[in-house]
Amino acid sequence: MIVDERITDYMNSLVQELPPYLRELEKTALMESIPIIRKETQTFLKVLISMKQPKRILEVGTAVGFSSLFMSEYMPEGCSITTIEKMPLRLEKAKKNFMEANLGEKVTLLEGDALIILSNLAKSEPFAFDFIFMDAAKAQYMNFLPEVMKLLPIGGVLITDNVLQDGTVAESRYSITRRDRTIHSRMREYLFTLTHMEEMETSIVPVGDGVTVSVRIK
Ligand SMILES: C[S@@+](CC[C@H](N)C(=O)[O-])C[C@H]1O[C@@H](n2cnc3c(N)ncnc32)[C@H](O)[C@@H]1O
Repeated sequence: MIVDERITDYMNSLVQELPPYLRELEKTALMESIPIIRKETQTFLKVLISMKQPKRILEVGTAVGFSSLFMSEYMPEGCSITTIEKMPLRLEKAKKNFMEANLGEKVTLLEGDALIILSNLAKSEPFAFDFIFMDAAKAQYMNFLPEVMKLLPIGGVLITDNVLQDGTVAESRYSITRRDRTIHSRMREYLFTLTHMEEMETSIVPVGDGVTVSVRIK
């Protein structure tokens, strides 16, 4: 936890209740240890969507569809979501959850590895997504970034979740267990790149497990 637990609990106590079907989905996902966006991140995402008023959202990392369904509650009329997932069991659950939510063509689920799908999308629909939410394998963010840049127009917003990794990203490499060193260095490389790209303005926000908010300016 990056932010003091007491403060997080207080902040979350002020959050408005989710619609009942999302509350149920959140409960089930947490019970099944499926990693979904935290309460604080939910609120932040809701505000960013309300500010940006996107036309097309792209999500990398669907899991069982919680965050897609959450975003669909707050996106403007006419907006659609394309979301990518590769794990068969999660895909099945996501399909079921989308069907039950009766969203029709508002949500498109793309099945397979994000790197391949992103690169195909970049060819078929360049600069088509004005709001991109990255919430997949953290070690791959750096690989996803060049494809994401081919999909994000000027003025588009890129949100990346879990960038502070419970604060460990700020620790020296030598204090990180050998097992976690690759992810540690890849995340640092991602954050350095993102904050030094001339095409982007980026802020690292200590919300949830750390979120970057980037706006494409060039
Ligand atoms: C943190 S979960 C997503 C949670 C979801 N955004 C939510 O909040 O409800 C990350 C998901 O990304 C998927 N994932 C990881 N690497 C991927 C890849 N290369 N291609 C597609 N999906 C990937 C995982 O299978 C996992 O379900």
